[in-house]
Amino acid sequence: MKDKFRKDIALLTAEAFALSFPEVKEHHSELFIFDPPQIYSRLETPRDSQMGNYALPLFELAKALKKNPAELNKKLAESQNGLTLETKEFSHLSFTVAGGFNNARIKTEILAKAAIDSVLEEEESYGSSDEGQGRKIVIDFSSPNIAKPFGIGHLRSTAIGNSLYRIYQKLGYTSVGINHLGDWGTQFGKMIVAYRKWGDEKLLQDEPVKRLFELYVKFHKEEEQDTALSDMAREAFKALEDGNEEAIALWQKFKDYSMADFNKIYSMMGVHFDYQTGESFYNDKMDAVIERFQKAGLTEISDGALIINLEKFNLPACLLRRADGATLYATRDITGVLYRWQTFNFEKALYVVCSAQRDHFRQVFKAIELLEEAEKVPVEKRIAPRLVHVEFGWIKLENAMMSTRKGNIIFLEDVLNKAISLASEKIIEKNPDLKEIDKTAKQIGLGAVIFADLSTRKEKDVNFDWDKVLNFEGETGPYLQYTHARLCSLIRNYGKPINSNINYAYLNNPEEYRVLDIIYRFPFIVREVADAYDPNLMVSYLLELAGAFNKVYQRKSADGKIDKIISDDADLTATRMALVESVRIVIQEGLYLLGISAPEEM
Ligand code: ARG
Repeated sequence: MKDKFRKDIALLTAEAFALSFPEVKEHHSELFIFDPPQIYSRLETPRDSQMGNYALPLFELAKALKKNPAELNKKLAESQNGLTLETKEFSHLSFTVAGGFNNARIKTEILAKAAIDSVLEEEESYGSSDEGQGRKIVIDFSSPNIAKPFGIGHLRSTAIGNSLYRIYQKLGYTSVGINHLGDWGTQFGKMIVAYRKWGDEKLLQDEPVKRLFELYVKFHKEEEQDTALSDMAREAFKALEDGNEEAIALWQKFKDYSMADFNKIYSMMGVHFDYQTGESFYNDKMDAVIERFQKAGLTEISDGALIINLEKFNLPACLLRRADGATLYATRDITGVLYRWQTFNFEKALYVVCSAQRDHFRQVFKAIELLEEAEKVPVEKRIAPRLVHVEFGWIKLENAMMSTRKGNIIFLEDVLNKAISLASEKIIEKNPDLKEIDKTAKQIGLGAVIFADLSTRKEKDVNFDWDKVLNFEGETGPYLQYTHARLCSLIRNYGKPINSNINYAYLNNPEEYRVLDIIYRFPFIVREVADAYDPNLMVSYLLELAGAFNKVYQRKSADGKIDKIISDDADLTATRMALVESVRIVIQEGLYLLGISAPEEM
């Protein structure tokens, strides 16, 4: 997707430079400044929007030519501005010099038209594209473990994954969301033993996952005193793998209870999965895959276990089968990659999983790469280059890593419920007449938690902190929701249809210009989120937009009074309201792409 203005600037700049520096063109035609696509990708957003909408740094070029950057820039800008006068198709551009930065500015009316007309016409489709037509993106996200609590760590995966799911849909791809539940492995042997010893179906009914988790914690405590428990657990898992009916029935019970709990959270958050295929789904598919690796000559036996040696790649060996015959987490993921490729023929497969599993995914992806090399799969049909581990930082609790085993964990449901009840208190305090208090409190509470989770760079460690998650002021979800609600109320007060009597020349103050510039950038931000697999870019974008709009809202005229958006000047008001509605649509859609709802009143 191309930014038309950027393209124009790049074309004009290359031409202007060639005109003003003919001798350089002759000897150094390889320089980027003669190549519009390279200029296009080097254009930056100036820090101060007064400087224009795009900035081209010329320091590198000046250095290569042993010229003073400011002087080179001045000569270039003169030539650029000369061309805008001569060439009609560039007449919407003007250029200024700021030291070594060559700044381009789009004429207000043209920028306003490009931004507002598109938003009002396309509404929530603004920023959509069809680049992904007919292509699939598989997103493995959330993926909690059965009989264990859905922790804040899984929330990060759910929030990031859900946002990427929506972003790719917006870009025209078919998103395929998969919840790779941890529903297999030796821990189920432990659970079975613990449940037989201390479990009670009646206790499970109310808060199943919490009760199951207590059993899990108890098992580990008791196991320290009584090693016989470990043997019993191993036997129980073996029975499960061998298809023992009673073991399977217990396992199914754990799974059903846990899913009921997890689904409560998903429906609260509005998260949708296309498949809830957990690890157990691959039970009957692993043998064939292991055989394939053996045939390809990639396996060896080490201490009785079947492994893929990855020493050459500085990675620990990838275990496919333990000495006792049991398969592992990695075996199921490798099998999953091959199954998903066969089923979906994906453009990319993303794994939204915390960075603690970095080595795991390197091993899995490397195993696939080696298999394809060994099987001489044609390069364009290879899966390995399409696999991406979208990693995010570890979740810390009061600076300590959370350990599920020791029970040092925050239950997500409690966090969500607490956020919702605090939101509800706040509404009752501020706006007691609000009609749908419960519904709005849910939207705000959830918005606060999701936003807080997405507003840290995904690679960073996160210190989970109640105050920060639930802060309703400052850079938070509720602040953006509140901005949206305020825009809705302006539109209600105005009471007339939007998009008539518009004269964009009225949008002539710098605060408005900045908002226009930000609105115009929205489609490219959507693209950037997908490229970086990072919804945090959308978070920053929306905060920037809301901040810029608040400056419009609070702008004072020369007489020191607030320059009201709705005034006696009907045409001016109509034009400004078109801007208001555009901002509202972009904030609503941006929040949607983060998985957050935008209430109309709060
Ligand atoms: N259940 C795992 C955990 O909680 C995450 C699974 C991630 N997805 C995957 N395909 N391995 O640690």
